[in-house]
Formats: sequence, structure tokens, C-alpha cells
Amino acid sequence: MDYSGSKTVIIFQSKYGSTRRYAQWLAEMTKGDVFSINDFDGVRLKHYQTVIFGSSTHMGKIKSIDFIKRYWSILQDKTVIVFATSGTPSVGSKEKEIIEKNLPHAARGRVVCFPLPGAYSYHQLDWKDKLLMNGPRWKLLFQWYFTKDPEAFKNLRNFYIPQDWTNKDALKPLLTFLNTKRKE
Ligand SMILES: Cc1cc2nc3c(=O)[nH]c(=O)nc-3n(C[C@H](O)[C@H](O)[C@H](O)COP(=O)(O)O)c2cc1C
Repeated sequence: MDYSGSKTVIIFQSKYGSTRRYAQWLAEMTKGDVFSINDFDGVRLKHYQTVIFGSSTHMGKIKSIDFIKRYWSILQDKTVIVFATSGTPSVGSKEKEIIEKNLPHAARGRVVCFPLPGAYSYHQLDWKDKLLMNGPRWKLLFQWYFTKDPEAFKNLRNFYIPQDWTNKDALKPLLTFLNTKRKE
């Protein structure tokens, strides 16, 4: 494969598909190359000027973020963007902070981070993830049982309803940043 003409690469990690969806949209919009992290050899990074890494938030961590650390010596001279999907419809500064905190030290302040609303379906989770989600589920159950707070009941009920907040519009801030960089 010849990468010499390609300037942007999107590398993603996705277990249930929402991060993959954003990566594919980005590939269409930027005319970039797109790879799952499992199929990408980091030495190929040198062929690109812009590297977009996408992953998901998992128990307050960004999955596979070590990729940035491992290849920082190649990445440090490039435009590097990280996006992370979340299990929440409205992402903001709190979610951005989580991504930034997960970055390796050398990359902090040098990588631009964009949180994106992801998708969540309890019934699709594998047994390990279901087990991990037991903590928040019990917390909601106790909250509702002891306070009879209708909000807790609503959240508990929503826990089992599949949600998909992925949408192309959420990529606008990232694309605006990318266009500014390309004009520089
Ligand atoms: C076990 C588990 C833990 C999660 N932890 C968080 C979290 O700490 N913060 C958050 O915003 N979303 C969390 N999520 C939601 C995922 O980030 C969200 O579902 C994301 O869209 C999944 O990406 P994927 O579809 O590409 O796998 C969690 C999901 C699972 C299954």
C-alpha cells in the first residue's frame, strides 16, 4: 500500500462500534486513511502529517491511550488529535479533562482532545463489562431505594435502554480545528 499521498490517518480502538463509526466518518470527511489499532503498525505513522487517535472512555480511563506514549518520538512533530467517546449524551469540559489526564506526560498540552457522545447498550456488553457496570447499577438501586428520588428511578430504568448518541455534528469542533491547522 502506498501512503505517500495520504496526510491524515485515523487510528481507532472500538469494542462496541461507536468509536469506529466516528473514525469512519472522519475518514470520509478528511479523505484520510483509517485503521483499527489492531491492524496498524506504528512505524507507518511517519507517512502522515496529522494523526487522529480515537478510543472510548472506560472506568475513567481512555482505552489503549498508551499508543500515544509508545510512538511519541514519531508523533511529537505532527498534529495529533485524540477523541474519546463517552456513555453520556452531552459531553463537555469534564470529559475533555478526563482525556487530557489520561495522556502521557510528554504529550500533555501538545495534543488536542475532543470528547464525543458515544453509545451504550447494557444487553450488548460482554460478561466482564456487565460485571463492571454492576457497581453503578447497585449505586442507583440503593439511591432510589433509600431516597425514592424519581431521578434515580429514571436513571435506573434508562440503564437498560439502549442509547446511541453518535452523530456527525458532534465532529464539528474537531473538523474546524483540523481546517485551521491545514491553513497554517
Ligand atoms: C464497563 C464500561 C465502563 C465505562 N466507563 C465509562 C466512563 O468511565 N465514563 C464514560 O463517560 N463512559 C463510560 N463507558 C461508556 C463508553 O465509553 C461508551 O459506551 C462508548 O461509546 C463505547 O465505545 P465503543 O462503542 O467504541 O466500544 C463505559 C462503558 C462500559 C461498558
